[in-house]
Amino acid sequence: MTELHKTGAAVGEPVATATPTAFLEVRDLKVHFPTDDGLVKSVDGLSFQLEKGKTLGIVGESGSGKSVTSLGIMGLHTAGQYGKRKAQISGEIWLDGRELLSADPREVRRLRGREMAMIFQDPLSALHPYYTIGTQIVEAYRIHHDVDKKTARRRAIEMLDRVGIPQPDKRVDNYPHEFSGGMRQRAMIAMSLVNNPELLIADEPTTALDVTVQAQILDLIRDLQKEFGSAVIVITHDLGVVAELADDILVMYGGRCVERGPAEKVFYEPRHPYTWGLLGSMPRLDREQQDRLIPVKGSPPSLINVPSGCAFNPRCPYADVPKDNVTRTVRPELTEVGGRHWAACHMTQEQRERIWTEEIAPKL
Ligand SMILES: Nc1ncnc2c1ncn2[C@@H]1O[C@H](COP(=O)(O)OP(=O)(O)OP(=O)(O)O)[C@@H](O)[C@H]1O
Ligand code: SF4
Ligand SMILES: [Mg+2]
Repeated sequence: MTELHKTGAAVGEPVATATPTAFLEVRDLKVHFPTDDGLVKSVDGLSFQLEKGKTLGIVGESGSGKSVTSLGIMGLHTAGQYGKRKAQISGEIWLDGRELLSADPREVRRLRGREMAMIFQDPLSALHPYYTIGTQIVEAYRIHHDVDKKTARRRAIEMLDRVGIPQPDKRVDNYPHEFSGGMRQRAMIAMSLVNNPELLIADEPTTALDVTVQAQILDLIRDLQKEFGSAVIVITHDLGVVAELADDILVMYGGRCVERGPAEKVFYEPRHPYTWGLLGSMPRLDREQQDRLIPVKGSPPSLINVPSGCAFNPRCPYADVPKDNVTRTVRPELTEVGGRHWAACHMTQEQRERIWTEEIAPKL
């Protein structure tokens, strides 16, 4: 048993033991898509752990591989969900002592919906337009529970009530288009949670919603997690969203993890220049609108011709700081920068501490 396991860490280094003790353990996950332009390495060696009752926030800009990671955990790439050519997936995904990548797809299908569920980025893609909200929740429930329609309908109404849909006994018979965006998100959360899943992945649950509804949805996920003790992964562009909600944060860049650790460490003592950039681009109430959103300059790396060395190099203001010029040729691996806190950067600890304290933090 490693130190991490003894302390009940929610996120940590993959361990060499065959059967992990963490509730969810992802080891060296790779999801590559063969395309006419070449192999797209959407996720390229991701590892983390998550315990029940804990929340992991996965943060990164558009195209960094967040959704591909979640669909991978849910076993949805192999279901032919994406494109015509099959994704190439390797690594290990352990859920409650079972390895999912090598498991029978029927077993993964059985687990999906019952033990693990996902709130999708776009509720319209997850809800069928021709069936009422109630019918869809009833079906989701009855796949896994041998109950009559009346009992399942009662359960659907109860779930709609739980997620804050007014007049759930009437709304249950509405079609998705009769719901507002926020209500559709809630209905989808109700559907995801109808079987009390032990792992819930919420992929950008709030981007399309206004700020008040966003806060309500996040509160709702938090309440439901307390009630059901589930493990939750919240995926977002916005570090601010997960700083409060998550126990641990994993920052993705170009299909890889560049920093991860306890939320307060990643938020208040980040040790990767990309995380600094994300923090600088966060909206803040005490700033003028034009000063608020400074996106990280430059564009995300190609996932086909991944350059050697540090993938953040072309955009990194500190690329020339490491003196031995390794940045351009050697890829930095995750190294521990504090208790359960890792970052992948060639700068020394001292260099990063100094830059953070003297140059970055005072400006945030
Ligand atoms: N089936 C596929 N074939 C080829 N490339 C794909 C496929 N699915 C995803 N990708 C690519 O993988 C990369 C990661 O996609 P992903 O959807 O995980 O990004 P994301 O981090 O969720 O972004 P966003 O924040 O915009 O949702 C993108 O460059 C995307 O174009
Ligand atoms: S390794 Fe170099 S380029 Fe990459 S983040 Fe660190 S300083 Fe920037
Ligand atoms: Mg996404």
